[in-house]
Amino acid sequence: MRAATWMLLICLLIGLFNSDFCDASPIEDVAYDDYRNDDNFDYDGEDSGTEAPLVAVEEVNVPPYFEQEEIFVKAKPGDDVILNCDARNFDITNVALWYKKDQIVSNGPNAINNRFEALRNNSLRLAGVTPEDGGDYYCAILPQNVRQHTTLTVAARLSILCDDRDVTDRSQTFKQGDHHRLVCQTFLPTKTDIKWSLNGQRLTSAGDPASGVIVLDNVDEEDAGVYQCLGDDGSNDPPHGMINVDVQYSPKVSTHRHHVNTQEGGSAEIYCDYRANPIAISFFIKDGKTLSLSDKYSIKNSLHKQHNRTTLIVKNTDDSDLGEYLCHVENSIGSNEVRVQLSYAPETPQFENSTIEGNKVTMHWLVRSLQPLSEAVLDYKLSKSIHWSTVSMIKTQHHNHDKESGIWKITHEMELTPGLWHVRVKTKNTVGWSNFAPNHDVVIKDPEDSSVETPPEDLVRAGFGIGGGDSEEKKNAACTFSLVPALIMSAGSIALLRL
Ligand SMILES: *[C@@H]1O[C@H](CO)[C@@H](O)[C@H](O)[C@H]1NC(C)=O
Ligand SMILES: *[C@@H]1O[C@H](CO)[C@@H](O)[C@H](O)[C@H]1NC(C)=O
Ligand SMILES: *[C@@H]1O[C@H](CO)[C@@H](O)[C@H](O)[C@H]1NC(C)=O
Repeated sequence: MRAATWMLLICLLIGLFNSDFCDASPIEDVAYDDYRNDDNFDYDGEDSGTEAPLVAVEEVNVPPYFEQEEIFVKAKPGDDVILNCDARNFDITNVALWYKKDQIVSNGPNAINNRFEALRNNSLRLAGVTPEDGGDYYCAILPQNVRQHTTLTVAARLSILCDDRDVTDRSQTFKQGDHHRLVCQTFLPTKTDIKWSLNGQRLTSAGDPASGVIVLDNVDEEDAGVYQCLGDDGSNDPPHGMINVDVQYSPKVSTHRHHVNTQEGGSAEIYCDYRANPIAISFFIKDGKTLSLSDKYSIKNSLHKQHNRTTLIVKNTDDSDLGEYLCHVENSIGSNEVRVQLSYAPETPQFENSTIEGNKVTMHWLVRSLQPLSEAVLDYKLSKSIHWSTVSMIKTQHHNHDKESGIWKITHEMELTPGLWHVRVKTKNTVGWSNFAPNHDVVIKDPEDSSVETPPEDLVRAGFGIGGGDSEEKKNAACTFSLVPALIMSAGSIALLRL
């Protein structure tokens, strides 16, 4: 048969009736002959079929193609992975080449690199993949150079999942109240000991960190930070990963002075401390009206370590300025408020510190009042009893009033029988009474017995003080003074109350 006839027949038979190939000059044909010779394709059988090939022209005239141009393959370290090159209309004249990035890795049946094995069906096999095997691959079918891209992702040796999504080494934003599950998993043949930490502190609760699971229920501010997971396999280079968790929450609003003392004609500062994420705005409300800047009111914003502070300054105070101020803070998540009372009465006393020697306790409180303090009352009781005993003092002569700060120091010394005691204090100035300070607990140890018990009757001393409490209290556990019972008030330039 003449060469031209051969050419035509082959084109018809194998569906490459494509001008590049069939119009090729005889010289170029030689190259393609090599492919044909590799196969035991039987041309002879079709020799005489003059009708059929013509009909077939329409059907076979389609070059190789892929049903998908992009393929994504995920694998774990150590997996055996097969990357397919499943071309339609692939025929004996075609050859499949595999590339990783732009480097050829297999040429038809011959792998070029021993990481790879070329399979008969043009697939590429990788045994025991490592993260380094991940990347962009493509399979090219020659001569048409039809390509299919395959992205191979090989998981890290360790990964962190948040609600089943891989978030290793990424940032996550949670909302207050959310529920999330963090899982740390390793892909190592050896057994690993999973260790979680938050901001450098080992996590031992909240889920089961040892099994790699952390459950965050009702997420809040304190759950924010850097979570690190270590897959301790005993090696020098254990796998590890981290996630950075940001928590968005509605403002947390507080004040260190719920009652603010002022005097007529003076100016008063009302403090509103808050933390918020995202950023919040704050404003003050009095008698239902939002306060705006004026001769009366000014605002100061300051940044502190733990919070941001907005200070309302009320100038030239008079009776109409007394009462409740509401500090309202809001961000995109929500809002919160704190209430502050402005009055002429003393502020709530703040416990400062105490010393206990044997059964003698010395306690210090600080009180703010621009007006002179006229009286202080101390209540005490054993924790089990219902009624308070009271010591009431009028010690105006001891006032050593620091006019600048208006801070008073109250010192009280008393003897108590062994047991757990609650103590509270309130003060009066020329205008009125403060609230009681929160209870302060005092534990007097029994020298004879390590366990705290009601003391024997002979240790009980007489009660003291004006308007003392119920008699049972006195009998059981009254106190005596080694000094003249007194609330010693003195000026204090006390850092604690300083701003
Ligand atoms: C190619 O062969 C391999 C191994 O026999 C097989 O796992 C793979 O599925 C095959 N690919 C296609 C596209 O058939
Ligand atoms: C305080 O305010 C600044 C912006 O004024 C903000 O960046 C910061 O996060 C705030 N701090 C807190 C604890 O809310
Ligand atoms: C109590 O506090 C004051 C001031 O803060 C300090 O000077 C004093 O040493 C403290 N006393 C005790 C017993 O800690």
